[in-house]
Formats: sequence, C-alpha cells, structure tokens
Amino acid sequence: MAKKPRKLLVTSALPYANGPIHIGHLVEYLQTDIWVRFQKLKGNNCTYICASDAHGTPIMLRARKEGISPEELVERYRIEHQQDFSGFHIAFDNYHSTHSEENHELVEQIYNNLVKKDLIERRTIQQAYDEEAGMFLPDRFLRGTCPRCNAQDQYGDNCEVCGATYSTSELKDPQSILSDTTPVQRDSEHLFFKLQNFAPMLQEWISGGAVDDGIARKLNEWFEAGLQDWDISRDAPYFGFRIPGTDDKYFYVWLDAPVGYLASFKNLCKKRSDLNFDEYFSVDSSVELYHFIGKDIVYFHALFWPSVLEGAGYRKPTSVFTHGFLTVNGQKMSKSRGTFIAAKTWLEHLDPECLRYYYAVKLGANIEDIDLNLEDFTAKINSDLVGKLVNIASRCAGFITRNFDGQLAEELEQPALYSLFVTTGDTIARHYEQREYSRAMREIMQLADRANQYIDERKPWVLAKDKKTASDVQAVCTQGLNLFRVLMIYLSPVLPAMAYKVAEFLDTGTEQWQSRSEPLLNKRINPFKPLMTRIDSASVEKMIEASKKAGQASTQPVKEKQDDKYISIDDFLKIDLRVATVISAAAVEGADKLLQVILDDGSGQRTVLAGIKSAYSADELTGRQVIVVANLKPRKMRFGTSEGMILAAGDDEIFLISPDNGAEPGMRVR
Ligand code: MSP
Ligand code: ZN
Repeated sequence: MAKKPRKLLVTSALPYANGPIHIGHLVEYLQTDIWVRFQKLKGNNCTYICASDAHGTPIMLRARKEGISPEELVERYRIEHQQDFSGFHIAFDNYHSTHSEENHELVEQIYNNLVKKDLIERRTIQQAYDEEAGMFLPDRFLRGTCPRCNAQDQYGDNCEVCGATYSTSELKDPQSILSDTTPVQRDSEHLFFKLQNFAPMLQEWISGGAVDDGIARKLNEWFEAGLQDWDISRDAPYFGFRIPGTDDKYFYVWLDAPVGYLASFKNLCKKRSDLNFDEYFSVDSSVELYHFIGKDIVYFHALFWPSVLEGAGYRKPTSVFTHGFLTVNGQKMSKSRGTFIAAKTWLEHLDPECLRYYYAVKLGANIEDIDLNLEDFTAKINSDLVGKLVNIASRCAGFITRNFDGQLAEELEQPALYSLFVTTGDTIARHYEQREYSRAMREIMQLADRANQYIDERKPWVLAKDKKTASDVQAVCTQGLNLFRVLMIYLSPVLPAMAYKVAEFLDTGTEQWQSRSEPLLNKRINPFKPLMTRIDSASVEKMIEASKKAGQASTQPVKEKQDDKYISIDDFLKIDLRVATVISAAAVEGADKLLQVILDDGSGQRTVLAGIKSAYSADELTGRQVIVVANLKPRKMRFGTSEGMILAAGDDEIFLISPDNGAEPGMRVR
C-alpha cells in the first residue's frame, strides 16, 4: 500500500535585492530545487517558497546612490532575480518580498506577541555615529586599525589579518566608509530580544536533530560562550518597518527577513485554496518545515529564528539544512579573475543544466565548501552526461525509428537487468532524501555504465546487418531505451529540462518516481532529437572573459583594475576635452587649495572648482587658455558644484596645460 504523502514546506534563504544572483548563490537555490523536485517526484505534497530580502542599510544606500527609491531598487532586482532563477529551472511555488503587506502585518503581530510575553527589553547603547552622513553606522561601514595586531584598514568588528573579533568601540582610528570622517560615539535606545531565555529550548531542539552534526557542534560552542540578547532595532534613517510605539526606530532587517518565509507562504495561501496558513504554522502543525541556508547565516536561523517563532507562538522548523561556500578553481570567486560569474552571464554562454549536474556531483549533506573547477567541470559533463547518459539513447533510438517505425518490442530482453535498475532506485532515493546528491549521482552513473556495457555486448549495429538477427535489434534497443528512461527519471530532479524532452521523445507524459517499475513496451515513440552537446573549453573561456568585463563595469576597488594596461580608443574618445578661456578666478572661502574658475568653453560659461591655488593666483589665470574635461558629470563638493576639470601636469607641483597660440575656446582636443 502506498504511504500517505508527506506535507512539506521548503525555503531557500531570501536573496538581498541589491545585486545580481551569482553562481555562489546558485549552490543554495539549486540544492534546494533538486530536493524539492525530488519530493514532488515521489508524490509528496511539497511547497517551495522564497522572496526578495528588501530591507537594511546597504539597500537604502545603494538606492540613494542611484537616485531612486529603495522600493524601486528592490522591485528591479526582484524581477531580475526571478528571471535568473527561472533560467536555471529553479521552480518556486511562490516568490514574494519582505517589503510586503503580509510581512508588515506578520512582523508587527510577532513583535506584539513578544512584547506581551515580556521578551523585549529597552536598553541604551553607544554606537558609532557619522555626523556628516547623519546616521548610525553598521559595523561593516567602519574601517580602522585592529586593536590586537595594529593592522590598518580592518573592518569595524573583525580583523582579516589576525582574525580577532572585537566591538567597534575598541577599533583604533575608526573611519566611516561613507564620509571618511571619524565617527563619534552616541547614545541610542535599542530594543533587545531576550534570547537568553531560550537556551534550554534551543538545546533540546538542536539535540533533537534539527541541524546536521557539524552545525550542532558549532552551536554548542556558541552556547558555551553564552548567548547574548539580540538587538532587533535600528535608528532612522533605515529602510524597513517602523517599530510600533516608536517614532524613529525600525526593525533590524534580520528580524523581518525570516518572517518573510511566512509572508511568502501567506501570500501563496491567498492564491491557492488547498493551502491553509494555520495548518502549516500553528504550534502543533504536522507539516515538515525545512530551511536551506549557507553556513554564514546559521546564527540567524538556528538560534534567533526558532526562538522568535517559539516566543511568538508559532511552530519551529523541522530542520535547518546548511551548505558550504562555493570556490572556483580552488579560490574565492573573484571579479578580476572573471570567476565572479553572474547567473545571467552563465546563461549567455552555457547550459544551466550542466551547472545543476556539476553541483549535484559535488554536494553532500555537510558544510564543506564546494569547488567548481572549470576544467573538471568540462570533462565531467562531457564524460557523464554526453558520453554516458545521452549516448545510451542516441545509440538505440535510431534503430527503433528507422527499422521498426518507432515501435518498441513487446518484451524486455533482460528483465533482470531492468529490475536491478529499478531496485537501485531505493538507494538513490535515500541519497536524495538525505541530500547526499554526490552519492546519488555516483549510483546513477554506475548504472549508466552498466547500460552502455549491455549495448556494447549486444551490438545492435552488428545484429542489424544480418537478416537472421535483424529482428533482435528491436528487443535490444527496447531494453536500452528502458534503462535510459529509468536513469532519466532518477536524474529528473537535477536535469528537469532534459527529462521533459525525454518524456516527449518516449511519449510518457510527466513521470513519477514510481512509474519506473513499469517498463515501456509495445508502444510507439517519437523520433529522437539531440539532448545535449559537448561543452568546449572555448565557451567556458568566453564566459570568464565576459565576467571579467562585467566585473570592471561594476563599481569595484581600483586595486583590482590595475592589471588592464590599455583602454580602447573608444574609451579615450568618450572624454570630451575642450579648449577654454579663463574669464575670472577667485579664492574659495574656507578652502585652502581651491580656486573657483569661470570658463568660456565656446558654448557658454561654466564654473570649475580647481585645486590649483598653491601654484596660481587668481589674477595670473584670467585670460589664459586651458584644457577642460567638458563632459565630466557635475560634482557637488563641499564648497559648491564643479562642472568639469582643468588639466594640469605634476603630482605635488602643478603645471597647467595650455594649447599653442591661435586655439579658440570650444576646440576639441584629441
Ligand atoms: N538576505 C540574507 C538571507 C535572509 S534569509 C531570511 C542573505 N542573502 S544573500 O543574498 O547574501 O545570500 C543568500 C544565500 O546565498 C545565503 O544562504 C548565502 O549563504 C548563500 N550564498 C551567498 N554566496 C554564496 C557563495 N559564494 N557560496 C554558497 N552560498 C552562498 O544572506
Ligand atoms: Zn588584527
């Protein structure tokens, strides 16, 4: 008798809506999507949800820099992310946003429940404040000298040189990365969630198998160090939800982000009458709830989140599944090396299913980092998918179409071999269930070897040549295609698009895991179309080149750019250099080095603030010809707006550059 289908709700972490999805993120979304597709294939009732993570300081500042509202920024990335995900066949049942009505309501309600239960406490804390930017600074927005090892230019809360962690008030010579000024320490009242109250509950939850062993060990270290209450508020300006009962305090993004899981599900419940929010989230829910996350956000998901849910009267996650980080060719992804590959760039050069398969080959249920070695990737795809898997079908299909009018034989030639393929499915299912995809892929490829071996032994191409054996070809190829079909069912969570094409070719309709036990016999199939072609390393190289270019276009530290020695002539011609005559110049009050220079650039007057006061007096400039960068975007500076730049030679000393006699204002300089 078939078992009752399980009900599951599965999430991936909600990506921040302020940058593109890259192949690092995809480790997670592909890992989850494979698991969800497997559950659905098994006939379980599984729902997969996600959303954009919309709030927080970086998103607010990024929008400001682009001169748009944070809502607009988030919306733009939400659409872009959804396109990338669907390009990789990641099939959410719902994709929402944390900046949504549902989330706002749920967050307030959860907060009110916590307040009622006396789980929120007010405390005044000191925090770094940037007086120029007019805001409190998150740790990441401070740089300074490490208090332990004196390494310069380290983060506000940890040192990359000696690995020390410290509080921002200990950082020496702190600087705000927003304004390059020294922040001051200011008092502010914050709201704290009493995490300490939940230590016994958390320990029980963890020892009950809610996390993998490696993570449980890590969490126990944190318990031993002692849990700290959690600061859930941020001062204005902040992009988020305002805390009820305050004028200018907002929920910290990490409070409302996981609530976004509930909000996305609630939003889906509005569209689907078969889903009921309370059934999934009430304390006594029997639905399984799983969060897939990266190892960097364990603290939020395995300590804060279950405690908030418990405190607010909701059920806790069944398990949190944690994966490691992606490296490419053994190193961190890097823009200058071209290994910081955006999902979109990948899709422009390579088949998404190749990445799905390669990650599956690499993924297990642990937090080891996974490496995408591009040479190994190419070799693996060509040998496993093209050389082994697709080869089985392409060696058999032609005979059935040409010699037997698409008709499969009435019986299998080797039923025992077919049974072996079917029963191995139980092992493969166990591996999928336990997120041991690499083991599942190994089993599947061993079966693929076995299928190829069978075809090699029976040699349909030899049988076909001899009249006496020509009719055996149908049985052999029927056997081969049946083995292929079983493998394709096993691989369909990983290769959904290929599985779809195979279902069309074999004319089976959508397959279930169980369907494999019935072989396809005595039926007509469709002509075979190529399923996948070999990857050549040139495509991989082109993708790396494209990523390098994309990396250079985005804002990045100058350091990474130094290795391109040349600019193109087009780059150069973008700079509009013009001859201009100085109409007048004057010192700028309060500025040591600046002169305000008014120029005639041939088309009119423009004002430029130039740092040349140490070398030239206002008088000697008047009437002189200079060269000006005419299409430089006007810059607002502390002492006014500068509409261009005057060219000069020298680093410390300054020598203005002038055209020879006879040049006219407005002449183009090349
Ligand atoms: N917005 C938070 C999650 C909130 S969940 C309530 C966040 N977003 S993220 O965009 O930075 O990351 C999304 C997921 O991708 C995280 O689980 C993160 O661990 C994962 N990854 C991001 N970069 C990664 C790699 N380079 N490698 C593997 N996973 C990576 O965190
Ligand atoms: Zn240090």
